[in-house]
Amino acid sequence: MADTSSLDQLLQQGTSELRLATDEASLRSWQNRWFGKTGEISGALKRIAEIPAADRKDYGQKANAVKETLQKDFDLALEKVREEALEKDLAQGRVDVSLPGRQVLPGRLHPSTKIMRRILGIFGELGFETFTSREIEEDEINFGMLNMPPHHPARDMWDTFHTNKPGWILRTHTTPGQIHAMKLHAPGPVRVVLPGMCYRYENITSRSEIMFHQIDGVAVGESVKLTDLKGTLMAFIHKLFGEKRKIRLRSSYFPFTEPSMEVDMDCIICAGKGCSLCKKTGWLEILGAGMVHPVVLRNGGYDPQRHSGFAFGLGVERIVMLLSGMDDIRHFWANDWRFLNQF
Ligand code: FA5
Repeated sequence: MADTSSLDQLLQQGTSELRLATDEASLRSWQNRWFGKTGEISGALKRIAEIPAADRKDYGQKANAVKETLQKDFDLALEKVREEALEKDLAQGRVDVSLPGRQVLPGRLHPSTKIMRRILGIFGELGFETFTSREIEEDEINFGMLNMPPHHPARDMWDTFHTNKPGWILRTHTTPGQIHAMKLHAPGPVRVVLPGMCYRYENITSRSEIMFHQIDGVAVGESVKLTDLKGTLMAFIHKLFGEKRKIRLRSSYFPFTEPSMEVDMDCIICAGKGCSLCKKTGWLEILGAGMVHPVVLRNGGYDPQRHSGFAFGLGVERIVMLLSGMDDIRHFWANDWRFLNQF
């Protein structure tokens, strides 16, 4: 009888090592160690040649039996770990159809967009076309063409964001759009409103942001008068805030209008009696306005001897704040759904 105890040992060792392999990667490394070209099994088979001829048959049969047993055990172990992995995968990816669905929140228009559209709609009814101008503007058009040559002290009224490109800035107001609109229409009449984002290098407070919307308006023709400005603004304020509202024109200064004025409206809360919203004055400041300065008319392509015009500019967020009783402009860009959802 051949001594096959070394093969018994081999089977025992292979089986116990196989038991330690609990995933596909460790099974593959077991397979390599036992069934690879230089693995334990091929070593055992190669040794057949060294066995004395009389014992070779027994040894060979036993060695093949060990090989088959280990191969079978390996196949079973591999199938088992694959099934287990599949079950784990299925359990993890299982869809629980009894769970409530996630609520899809509907998109909404931003309050600034909503009011801007309403204001543009009102001016549309009054015969004003909407004209969109660029946000990155030439210094020369934002200031120079608006009667503020370099070093003009009035430039300090608008703290400016500059760009890397000399001569180009982020517009500080929508008023430079008036120059573009005039140049496009001159010498014919023009009547446009210009909405858009403006940028100012200012401290952010509850009343002031570094970016905010404005709407400018300009009308130029052969006999445009201050009373036309007053009538237009009264019609606008009545449509937006109600027929009862009164306005007052207060003398002011802008380099691009002459005369210039601030337009106030009687307080929507106390109707002129004085409250905290109007700081006891009875009046709320709504917009800046005036008759287009002759220099600006000329820069827009008009002859100030023949043509005249009025212009105005308002802050959209401040109007939303007035209409909704909001007390802090910082809510506008905080992107808080709870705020946006109120509109
Ligand atoms: C102007 O910007 C002028 N261009 C308006 C104008 C146009 C006058 C045409 C005459 C003719 P002012 O700097 O006052 O003016 O700004 C106009 C409005 O923008 C203000 O009344 C205010 O409502 C709003 N505004 C100004 N700065 C800020 C800010 N930092 N944050 C939010 N709103 C602002």
